[in-house]
Amino acid sequence: MRGLLTSLLLLPFFAAGPAFGQTADSAVRAEALLGRMTLEEKVGQLVMTGFDEAFSTDILERGGAGSVISFNDPAAIARAQEKARASRLGIPLLIGLDLLHGFRTLFPMPLAEAASFDAELAARNAELAAREAKPAGLNWTFAPVADVARDPRWGRMIETNGEDALLASDFTRARADGFRRGGLAPTLKHFAGYGAVSGGRDYDAVSVSDFELQNIHLPPFRAALGPITTVMTALTVLNGMPSSANTQLLGTTLRGKWGFDGVVVSDWKAIGGLIDQGIAQDEAEAARIALKAGVDIDMMSGIYARYLAAEAAAGRVSIQEINGAVRRVLALKFALGLFDTPPPDPSEADRAALTPELRAAARAAVRDTSVLLRNEDGVLPLRSGNIAVVGPFADNAFDQLGPHEARGMPEDAVTVLEGIREHAAKTGARVHYAQACDVACEDTSGFEAAVDASRTSDVTIVVLGEKREHSGEGASRATLGFPGKQDELLEALAATGKPIVLVVIAGRPLDLRRAAETAPAILMAWYPGTEGGHGVADLLFGDHAPSAKLPISWPRSVGQAPLSYDRLATARPYEPAARYTQRFLDEKIEPLFPFGFGLTYTNFRYSTPVVTPGTDGAAANVSVTLTNGGARAGTEIVQLYMRDDVASRVQPVKRLVRYARIALQPGESRTVEFVLRRDDLGFFDEDGHLIVEPGTFRFGAGPDSTVALDAIFTLAPP
Ligand code: NOJ
Repeated sequence: MRGLLTSLLLLPFFAAGPAFGQTADSAVRAEALLGRMTLEEKVGQLVMTGFDEAFSTDILERGGAGSVISFNDPAAIARAQEKARASRLGIPLLIGLDLLHGFRTLFPMPLAEAASFDAELAARNAELAAREAKPAGLNWTFAPVADVARDPRWGRMIETNGEDALLASDFTRARADGFRRGGLAPTLKHFAGYGAVSGGRDYDAVSVSDFELQNIHLPPFRAALGPITTVMTALTVLNGMPSSANTQLLGTTLRGKWGFDGVVVSDWKAIGGLIDQGIAQDEAEAARIALKAGVDIDMMSGIYARYLAAEAAAGRVSIQEINGAVRRVLALKFALGLFDTPPPDPSEADRAALTPELRAAARAAVRDTSVLLRNEDGVLPLRSGNIAVVGPFADNAFDQLGPHEARGMPEDAVTVLEGIREHAAKTGARVHYAQACDVACEDTSGFEAAVDASRTSDVTIVVLGEKREHSGEGASRATLGFPGKQDELLEALAATGKPIVLVVIAGRPLDLRRAAETAPAILMAWYPGTEGGHGVADLLFGDHAPSAKLPISWPRSVGQAPLSYDRLATARPYEPAARYTQRFLDEKIEPLFPFGFGLTYTNFRYSTPVVTPGTDGAAANVSVTLTNGGARAGTEIVQLYMRDDVASRVQPVKRLVRYARIALQPGESRTVEFVLRRDDLGFFDEDGHLIVEPGTFRFGAGPDSTVALDAIFTLAPP
């Protein structure tokens, strides 16, 4: 009987519903449904429950939860959805999961993708991930991360797009678009400032200036707002106020100035966190504060479920406040088409997974995201000869996948060793493999076999790094060294005199000072994902040339953190011979590798950039000619940096304003023209207003952020 009733109730929605993605009448339909709901059912829509051993579907059958998390198994998802649709009103569930870098097919992590300086690559991969996840029943993802990260001690740097606000904005927007194209609701997270946790300690408080907040941390969120978008609060305190209680952030900025009318979801148990943060006396107060601040869905604290109905009945929260939140949740469900389409058939999920298209995209992404940091004497690409492959990450499918594996599985992954073996089989090269040590690398008993393998080979590829639990959430580190005795392994191998190629599998810039002296070639492969081995081998053997550039400044040592190239101007800039200038007494001031740096197998020459006043409403045009001066084809990421000489607020010494990926054949030249609008020359004031001030601006175009800013331009008053 209940089944029949449910389908009768659903019929009108199926019949009258809009096509997927059309949101015009979702608000109207939400309103009509809202009118039929009890208070308990309304509160249920604001509750998220999660999959674990204790999970029971009762809560779904009585409409006690409107969304679920931590489900990645298609059959379990289908069961949950069925139970929710069998509830009195048959309201489908939002089913969300973190798709940081894919679902079953894992792509390189977001920080790696940012190294491609190719936002369309990130959009494509997000869309592919969504298309792989949707048949499994997901309709919502807790991605992309919009946080800006400048401190490699923070394990979540790998989930971000790095230190630059422009790059982070472009990539966050691109991924959000990709998820939408693939039919998933994206979540911009973590609003806001989480990337600046004090000392890189996860969950610590964030204290940033208004200038930094408005110009660095908020722009990626603003850039990525759009249809079917949700926003997640941060677990942290921003300038004294927890994100989930922050009326300034959620009310004034997000919903007010930016006009966001979508769903805000708390981070995991963040509403409960208001008590630990000393903002709420008890759970009832935490529920009131969060709802009033604008948090619509309570992720996993259970506090909305326990208190909201009673608080409303007692008049301490208004029914209008509850209705507002429920309306947004229902409107999202209508806009996603959940009422209009039957849930996916779980048996289809496997067919959509790990397709040749997904694998090809994952492999191509590894090639475009691994950064060649060093290549002395042209060690790479590899020439013919026998190869030793050494190290705890060489044949390690589990760790190369990286954190946030969604439904990714080690058995699907191609390791670096496997990728090298496949290539070597084509050329007839012999491959000697020696693991040397496990990922902890405390036990050196395997070093000797590794040194032997190296001695009897022409080149050694040593794959070192940090295991995947060393990155991601709750994975702050106080040091940046290779864990265990991996540096010693590298030195023992170098002592053979055979050339070494170091491949790094890690989620943060590790301390490469010793490695940079012993390994003539270094390739940063991040956590390269399912097709990691194929993509890395494509680069090592020269089937493809590396092109990626660092989306972070790579520190020499941990004491330099936090570090970014766009420091605000100081009255005491670094001067080598002047004691009282910006410096460390015991460390260089420059990073080991600057933001934007990366090598390839050819070399590029830049002409002096020329800046001219813009036409057709543009403020200025900057052009620079790039020439491939080497013997191989290659792709260069041309970067345009700018400085505003005099302004009413202190400005960065340099900031990225444009970039372009340019592919050139040997000897080929191309003139790249960057068109800048007036707005590109401005900055946000304390209230988030864009200010463009006339005066002189300096530009420089080149291969990384150390480029000189010699081209001067004067912006006239409007
Ligand atoms: C906590 C993390 O901070 C957040 O990024 C994630 O989406 C949730 N857990 C759910 O996995």
